[in-house]
Amino acid sequence: MSVVLSAVGFAACMSMIMATSATAATTLGASAAEKGRYFGAAVAANKLSDSVYTTILNREFNSVTPENEMKIDATEPQQNQFTYTNADRIVSHARSRGMQVRGHTLAWHSQQPGWMQNMSGTALRNAMLNHVTQVATHFRGQVVAWDVVNEAFADGSSGARRDSNLQRTGNDWIEAAFRAARAADSGAKLCYNDYNTDDWTHAKTQAVYRMVQDFKQRGVPIDCVGLQSHFNSGSPYPGNYRTTLSSFAALGVDVQITELDIEGASATTYRNVVNDCLAVSRCNGITVWGIRDSDSWRASQTPLLFDNSGNKKPAYDAALSALNSGNPPTNPPTTPPTNPPTNPPTTPPPGGPGSCSATVSLNSWTGGFVATVRVTAGSSGTNSWTVTLTLPSGATVSNAWNAQRSGNSGTVQWTNVSYNGHIAAGQSTEFGFQGTGSAAGMTPTCTAT
Ligand code: XIL
Repeated sequence: MSVVLSAVGFAACMSMIMATSATAATTLGASAAEKGRYFGAAVAANKLSDSVYTTILNREFNSVTPENEMKIDATEPQQNQFTYTNADRIVSHARSRGMQVRGHTLAWHSQQPGWMQNMSGTALRNAMLNHVTQVATHFRGQVVAWDVVNEAFADGSSGARRDSNLQRTGNDWIEAAFRAARAADSGAKLCYNDYNTDDWTHAKTQAVYRMVQDFKQRGVPIDCVGLQSHFNSGSPYPGNYRTTLSSFAALGVDVQITELDIEGASATTYRNVVNDCLAVSRCNGITVWGIRDSDSWRASQTPLLFDNSGNKKPAYDAALSALNSGNPPTNPPTTPPTNPPTNPPTTPPPGGPGSCSATVSLNSWTGGFVATVRVTAGSSGTNSWTVTLTLPSGATVSNAWNAQRSGNSGTVQWTNVSYNGHIAAGQSTEFGFQGTGSAAGMTPTCTAT
């Protein structure tokens, strides 16, 4: 009897070893997780009662993007009346099952509610910033990455911004949106998301690249770039896609494939996309834009991994086997710092008391402003610093980054935060704040230890 038992025990033990170490993962999410990545799907709240749909969702995916439910028309249908019911349903479905959530999207020219479409100028700028602040605050701690701004560049060869009511509030609307998002949720990765930015040689790709490079250089808080990657005969998967992913990553941001669908769902193209992402350590996840073909916004292109009945298509097998055969990441997945420094790291503290100087540059519009303050250390460097600024009457600070402040109007003192108190001799750091009213004519003073 005991011989029989131990034979059974041996077999059970062997099958456990097989299951944990030798068997390839059998779902997209599990396989991506083994590679330090996620595999997600766009989800519609009104499909969560469809059991074929939720069976696939719950089995295969470990990340979710609400397809429409977090857009501006859904979350703020009337100005200052926020509605989160459908978005919250998706978030709770996902999080209760251990899936992460991508937020989509805080600022966009499209799917604006009527009241916003009719706005312009300062009123629109402030409404947009309020929307970013309110929505990012509501989902704070629940959303891993936000598409803060969506589709802000024009198609074609111009490399210009897309004309929109938001763009007409001033070219700095994108960075203002990112700063407001960081102030509201310092834990979420903040992404710029766009389409037709897959081909490295395209003017639009290059224009987005230059914007991200500029943001990184100036300390605008950006952590990731989303490539929607809607591939079809008009904008096919490009052979240089991997170059695009790695070039963005080299700027010091994560890269995410955010809305993948491929007309005809070629297995080879799905495999190529997965392999390209796996080849770039900062490509940390892929989201397909729907589950079954019938769920797709482009259903007639049959671009997804499951057919209308929920059966796996050849593209599914190709994606899964590419994930399974890919190499584990050489670098652990990165998470954004909660308070990223705005400048390249300064050298260790020189020690001893120091002196400093400060200058302010202003980006103003009627009724509002963003101020960037540059703090430069004197000849002995600083261990800590305090900048004093007197705001003109009527000006009020609404949010700030990279410094702690006392008060929000009149004379305001700004002190360093933990990561930017030490400035080496002659080096600089920057902090900033956003406010209402006019901030013209401020003269900063700086003291340091
Ligand atoms: C699409 C949705 O899939 C549709 O249901 C909706 O009618 C329109 O928007 N780029 C984006 C997504 O960033 O939000 C879009 O989603 C597809 C293109």
